[in-house]
Amino acid sequence: MICYNNTNNTITIHTKNSTYQMKIDSKGVLLHTYYGPRVRSGDFSNWILQEDRGFSPQPSEAGLDRTYSLDTQPQEYSSSGVGDFRIPSIEATSLDGSYTVDLRYVSHSIEDGKYTLDGLPSFYDNGGEWETLRVLLKDTCTNLTVELLYGVFAECDLITRAVKVSNSGTNPVSLERVMSTCVDFPSGTFHTITLGGAYGREREPVRMPLTQGIHTAQSIRGSSSHQQNPFTILCSPDTTEDSGDCWGFALVYSGNFLAQTEYTQFHETRFVMGIHPFHFSWKLKAGETFCAPEAAMVFSNSGLSTLSQRFHKAIRLNLCRGQWKDARRPILINNWEATYFAFDADKIVSIAEKASKVGVEMMVMDDGWFGERNDDFRGLGDWDVNEKKLPGGLSALAERIEALGMKFGLWVEPEMVNEDSKLYRLHPDWAFKIPGREGTRSRHQLVLDLSRKEVRDYILTNLRNTLSSAHISYVKWDMNRSLTDVFSLSLPSDQQGEVYHRYVLGVYEILEALHQEFPHILIEGCSGGGGRFDCGMLHYTPQIWCSDNTDAIERLRIQYGTSFCYPCSTMGAHVSAVPNGMTRRCVPLHTRGVVAEAGTFGYELDLNELSEEELAEVPQQIAHFKKNWELVTKGTYYRLGNPFEEAPFYGWMHVSEDQTRALASVVTGVGHANPIRGILRMKGLDPNRDYKVNGTVYGGDVLLHVGISLPILDEYRAVQFEIEAV
Ligand code: DGJ
Repeated sequence: MICYNNTNNTITIHTKNSTYQMKIDSKGVLLHTYYGPRVRSGDFSNWILQEDRGFSPQPSEAGLDRTYSLDTQPQEYSSSGVGDFRIPSIEATSLDGSYTVDLRYVSHSIEDGKYTLDGLPSFYDNGGEWETLRVLLKDTCTNLTVELLYGVFAECDLITRAVKVSNSGTNPVSLERVMSTCVDFPSGTFHTITLGGAYGREREPVRMPLTQGIHTAQSIRGSSSHQQNPFTILCSPDTTEDSGDCWGFALVYSGNFLAQTEYTQFHETRFVMGIHPFHFSWKLKAGETFCAPEAAMVFSNSGLSTLSQRFHKAIRLNLCRGQWKDARRPILINNWEATYFAFDADKIVSIAEKASKVGVEMMVMDDGWFGERNDDFRGLGDWDVNEKKLPGGLSALAERIEALGMKFGLWVEPEMVNEDSKLYRLHPDWAFKIPGREGTRSRHQLVLDLSRKEVRDYILTNLRNTLSSAHISYVKWDMNRSLTDVFSLSLPSDQQGEVYHRYVLGVYEILEALHQEFPHILIEGCSGGGGRFDCGMLHYTPQIWCSDNTDAIERLRIQYGTSFCYPCSTMGAHVSAVPNGMTRRCVPLHTRGVVAEAGTFGYELDLNELSEEELAEVPQQIAHFKKNWELVTKGTYYRLGNPFEEAPFYGWMHVSEDQTRALASVVTGVGHANPIRGILRMKGLDPNRDYKVNGTVYGGDVLLHVGISLPILDEYRAVQFEIEAV
C-alpha cells in the first residue's frame, strides 16, 4: 500500500511486515524518514535533528538558519556538491564542467501494477500483486529530471527501486554516477553481510561491524563476479538466523556494481547501490533518458532466514520467467568433468547410454563441439559444428541422444572470441582492444564488443542457426573472463564511459531474443561457475551453474552463501567424480547426491566409470530427487548451522508452505577422535502437529526444541530425514 498524506507531505509504503517512508520537506528536499518494521501511519521525521553542526553548510533556501544542512538530513536520493558530504547517488558534468546535482521534489504519482524498464531485467507482476510509486525530482540548473521508481510487492515484503534520469534542457550532460537505491538509517549500530569469495569459492558470507567510514562490495570486472556479489545485508549486531532486524539489497544487474555502506560522523548509516562509477560516464543529450538498473530491498525483523525466504519466493515467482521457472528441471548429465575437450559423438553417446539406463533425462554436451575448439586456445567465435568430432552435426547427435529417450543440451560462450578463430581473423576489430595498446588475454580469449549492433547480430544469427539446427532443449551460456581493455571502435571518445554498461545491455538483448524465440529451451547461466550469479541473469536464465567447484563439502559453503539471496531452484548443482578435480577430496556418492539435490540436481561425470554398487545408487538418488523436487524448489528453506564453522554437521531444511512435509539434510564435518555428538534441531515445523520422521512419530515442538540425536558417523556422511505430518 502506498499512501500520500498531504498534511505532513509524507509518502508511506506499507508491505505486509515493513514500512518505508519519505517526506517532502519545506525546501522541497525529499527526505528519507523510515525503513523498518511495519508501523501505523504518521510522520516519522521527528528523529531528524535540526542542529547547527560545524562544517555542514546551508542551501540557499535555509537563509540564515544554520540548523538546516543537506549534510545532516536523511536523503531519499542524495545529491552531490551541495553540502551532503556522504555518498552521493548522482553526479553529472554539465557543459560548463561543473559536477553538481541538486535535486528538489516536483511531483509524484501512485498507480497499480509494476513499472517496467526497457532493455533491463526487473521483477514483474503476475497480476494484481504490485503498486508503483513515481517521484519526480529536478535540478533546475542542469535541467536534469530524476524519476525515482518504486515497485511495491506487499505480500513478499519487497520494494524495488529504479531511477530514470532525463535531460530536459538543451545542452548535453554527462552522467558520472547514477545509483539505483539510497537508504539512510538513523543513528544505531549495524553489521554488514556481503558475499565475497573467489573463483571456485563463490559467495562466502562476510559479516563485519560498521565503524566510521565506508564499507564497499563491488565489481569492476564487467560482470557481477565471483569475488563479490551484488547483494548486501545490513543487520543489527544481535541478528541471527531466527531473530533480529535485517535489510537485504540485491541489484538486478550483471555488470560492474557498487554497494557502499557509510557509517557517518553522527553514527547514522547510508546505503547506496548501483552501477559502479568506475570508467562510467553516460552522455545524455537533450531529450534523452538514462535508466539505472533495479535494486530490490527486503526487510525482516525475524532474522536472516526470513529475509532469505522472502527473496527466494520473489526471485522464483516474480523475477525468473518462462515455462521452467517453477517446473522440475530435467535431470541432466554434463560431459565437461568427464572428458574436458577430448570427446567425439561416440563418447557423448556412450555417456548418455549409461545415463539413460539409470534414469538421467538429458545429455548436455559442453565446450569443444565447434570450430577448431580442441583446447582453450582456439575456436571461440566459430559456431559451426566440428564435423570431425560430430559427423552429421548436431542434428545427428541429438537424434542419437533422443533415441535413448533423453533430451539434448548444448554449451555456448557467445560473448567471447579466440584470436585463433575465423571470426577474429575476419573481424579483429570486434574484440575489445584499446588502439595502441597490446591488450590483455584471459583464458587465451578476448571479449566481443557487444555494444556494437553488428556483433550482437552475428551472435544472435549464429545462436538462432545452432538452436534451430537440431532438437535442443537446453543451453549452458558460459562467460569465462573478466572485461579489460574496454573500448568500442563504434563510439566517440566522449562516450567510451558507456561501453561497460552497453555491453551488459547487449547481453540482455540477446538473451531476451532467445527467451522470446525459443521459450521451450531451458537456459542455464554460467561464468566459470558462479561468476555472474545475480538477479539480472536470473531474469533470463532461471538457473545458474553455482561453481566449477563440485566438491560436495566445498559446495556446502557455496550453496549456503548463495542461499542468503538466491533460491535453491536457481542453483546449478551436480554430482561429480572423486577424487574431486579441484580439491582431490573423496566424498561418498550418497553425500554428493544429497548436496546436489539441494540445487537443480544432475551429474557431471562418466557413469561408465562407476562401480556396479555405485551405479545402483544412482536410480535411488534420482527417485529421491523426483520425489522431493517440489519441496526443494517451492518449499521454505532453512539453514541449520554454518558450514564455515567447525561443528559435528551442517544441515538445511525445506518445509512445505502448509508445514505438512519437510526434508532435512545433514552432512557431517571433518572427522575427529572421540567426536562430539550432533543434535539436529529442526526449523519451520508446526509445534502443534505430530510428524513422522523416517518412520518414527515426534511432536513438532520436540523436533524444534529437543531435536534428534544424530548417530556418530564418519566424516562427510549425509543423513536425510523425510518428515510428514500425521
Ligand atoms: C567453465 C564452466 O564453468 C565449466 O563448467 C565448463 O563449461 C567450462 N567453462 C568449459 O570451458
